[in-house]
Amino acid sequence: MNVLIVSNRLPVTTRVDAGGVTVVPSNGGLATGLRGVHERSGGLWIGWPGVPAELPTPIRRAIDQRLAAVGAVGVPLAAREIDAFYQRYSNGVLWPVLHDMLDHPAAEPSDWEAYRTVNERYADVVARRARPDEVVWIHDFHLMLVPRLLRERCPSLRIGFFLHTPFPSIEALATVRHHAALLDGLLGADVVGVHTRAYAARFLDAVRALLGRATSPSDVEDGARRVHVRACPMSVDVSAFEARATEPRVAAMASHMRRDGERLLLGVDRLDYTKGIPARLDAYARLLEREPSLRGRVRLHQLAVPSRESVPAYQALRAEVESTVARINARFGTREWTPIEYRYGCVDDVTLSALYRAADVMLVTPRRDGMNLVAKEFVASRVDGDGVLVLSEHAGAAAELRTALLVDPDDVDGLARSYSAALAMSAPERRVRMRRLRSAVRRHDVFQWAREFLLALGGGGAALVGRS
Ligand code: UDP
Ligand code: G6P
Repeated sequence: MNVLIVSNRLPVTTRVDAGGVTVVPSNGGLATGLRGVHERSGGLWIGWPGVPAELPTPIRRAIDQRLAAVGAVGVPLAAREIDAFYQRYSNGVLWPVLHDMLDHPAAEPSDWEAYRTVNERYADVVARRARPDEVVWIHDFHLMLVPRLLRERCPSLRIGFFLHTPFPSIEALATVRHHAALLDGLLGADVVGVHTRAYAARFLDAVRALLGRATSPSDVEDGARRVHVRACPMSVDVSAFEARATEPRVAAMASHMRRDGERLLLGVDRLDYTKGIPARLDAYARLLEREPSLRGRVRLHQLAVPSRESVPAYQALRAEVESTVARINARFGTREWTPIEYRYGCVDDVTLSALYRAADVMLVTPRRDGMNLVAKEFVASRVDGDGVLVLSEHAGAAAELRTALLVDPDDVDGLARSYSAALAMSAPERRVRMRRLRSAVRRHDVFQWAREFLLALGGGGAALVGRS
């Protein structure tokens, strides 16, 4: 049995310029995490190529060919659909609500219409492509209506849905005008997966309270069907990170990064307002204020991966983060020492692994995060058994990574104290904590996650991603 993966973001994103069509790896946890599962399963991955559909025919053909070469099929979106469906409704309205952030813009009726139309198009493409012996696995908040729309088209298909974000409170969800349609859309699936038990409980509460449906601790009634709700924490390809971490070129790059003998604090995030970057930076300034002896002896390396650059909230965040970095560097920096090394861009796998290996302290401090794979990638990369993870208690990963230093991401003082404790932690304590973190991450890698979900969906999953 094959798996057909469906998500708005494909594992590669297309670029079209004077040189022609190229594809680059997509950023973000959904694409990076699912990539290995897709490769092993050998099935198709249906999603948006990343560029507007209004392109000359030869270019569209070249895009289809590039996608076909990596087992992907494009769903065309017109420029105005990208604005309405992706930028305004998915990113502008749903993303903040799913993260319990209530100051989102109200949805325009035409944006909701675009969301529905694009979800219908996805359902049509999947209905055409899915074979009766396949299971269909739909991912994330852009496509919440697709399970129901696909069920209407193919009643006997096995359909799974996984939400990569947190599941919000009922109060937050109720602020979205079309919340009932969104919840009902999900209930077209046979299995709805979320990262944690707390999200599963919230989903069941919302279905009861907002749709008036009967639920049991893990099921929802949908007419004659039962929809199974499952907490399945996503993870990373642990053996790939371990293998890369031991490559000589990674070790060489890591030691180059630590060349000045400074203790290194590291942040790696898509530049997103859910990630808690401004408070993280303020806490670093507080640390330098309180412990002047650290000046010149520590450095914060912040990698900010460009994301959703046309959405106004992301433009505002970039300006805020960059002015905060400049302010802190101007205040504490000297001719010989720059307190924050800020990089706006993407890095390749080798550089990422070297950063994880070089860091003394990894700062993962989102205000809310469905899972946060960066935390798990850091742990998987620490084959040396060293390094400290400072982790927000509002990241899904905190449910598993209990021996991290758990923090409140909005408490600047508390964060500064945790950075200080992390830097002062003895080697034996670091090793004990890291050993426990590593055993949690190694026990449950991304293939185990896929296997569990797919087994719940139809039994065929074990064979697809069978090797652990
Ligand atoms: N990442 C990336 N490009 C980079 C650096 C990192 O795509 O230049 C990856 C990182 O390795 C991780 C993902 O982005 O797999 C971020 O996933 P996470 O779950 O932490 O957060 P998300 O971005 O999905 O909200
Ligand atoms: C998060 C979302 C994914 C999304 C990724 C990158 O991980 O859960 O669905 O693909 O961010 O965002 P983008 O808007 O570039 O797809």
